[in-house]
Amino acid sequence: MTHQYFGNILAGKRALITGANRGLGLLMTHRFLQCGAKVAICCAPNEDIEEAVTALRKIDSNFSVLGFKPNLTDEQALEDMLAVIEKTWGGLDILINNAGLYPPKRFEEYPQELFKTVFDVNVTGLFTLTQKAVRLLKQQPHSAIVNTSSMAGIDGAMGNIGYTASKFAVQGLTLGMARELGRYGIRVNAVAPAGMSKTDVYGKEITMNYGDNKIDQQAAQNAYEIAMKFAPMGQFQCHPDEMINAFIFLASDAAGFISGQTIAVSGACIWPAASPASTLDY
Ligand SMILES: NC(=O)c1ccc[n+]([C@@H]2O[C@H](COP(=O)([O-])OP(=O)(O)OC[C@H]3O[C@@H](n4cnc5c(N)ncnc54)[C@H](O)[C@@H]3O)[C@@H](O)[C@H]2O)c1
Repeated sequence: MTHQYFGNILAGKRALITGANRGLGLLMTHRFLQCGAKVAICCAPNEDIEEAVTALRKIDSNFSVLGFKPNLTDEQALEDMLAVIEKTWGGLDILINNAGLYPPKRFEEYPQELFKTVFDVNVTGLFTLTQKAVRLLKQQPHSAIVNTSSMAGIDGAMGNIGYTASKFAVQGLTLGMARELGRYGIRVNAVAPAGMSKTDVYGKEITMNYGDNKIDQQAAQNAYEIAMKFAPMGQFQCHPDEMINAFIFLASDAAGFISGQTIAVSGACIWPAASPASTLDY
């Protein structure tokens, strides 16, 4: 079945999506496949990619999917993955930098190690993979990179300093790479979601992850009521498909002259005010 809104807009495209064994990345993979793309997916080495590959092939045996588990901090593993994609499909047209860590913790308690770990994946990993993938992307007349940012990288979040700083860096990378790679016909954009409601066709709910911060239910309810005042459309979370639609458009040739942009998918909410997690007293 082709995509409900976009048909087979990505037919003939070869895409690589990071952080795609679950959550947003997994559903995005399904949608890209519906749009006609071939999709290589990857996740962290200590996680399972085969389950996701099998689940997607079960939905449609014609789906063309490859699975990898490189650490985004491991340059050789990234080179190896790209070499297999090149050998199997002859090239790459789309890179979606979606993998990201968002462990919440108060600023004063945020360990330096955690800060470095978040930057390793959200920033250095994105930079390194993109730098290596450019070799393939520049061989195509039109290619696209779409980064997963966050409203935390536009308005800032509370109780999550490493994440906030890293997603601001993603905006900088998006703009800087767009300026340098435009000469090769490579467009670079980002999508900045607010919250995500539920994840997918597989029925898994995404629940708010408060880390080891203990949350009182009444406080959570109060925070929710405050938050809604800053969410003009009555919610601060969207369905992942509402975000994925922006990724599909930006990855497609329909977005031919759009580059260097970060598109907020946020219902015009004021973030972090619209996030109950942010209005809680950590
Ligand atoms: N969930 C939300 O509400 C929300 C809101 C705004 C933005 N985002 C962003 O959306 C993206 C996806 O979020 P999600 O909730 O689906 O994520 P998730 O936590 O479900 O998945 C994270 C992915 O990153 C991969 N990963 C982690 N460390 C890695 C490493 N060292 N090397 C390679 N891969 C690694 C994991 O394998 C996994 O596939 C992230 O960039 C996140 O910041 C999410």
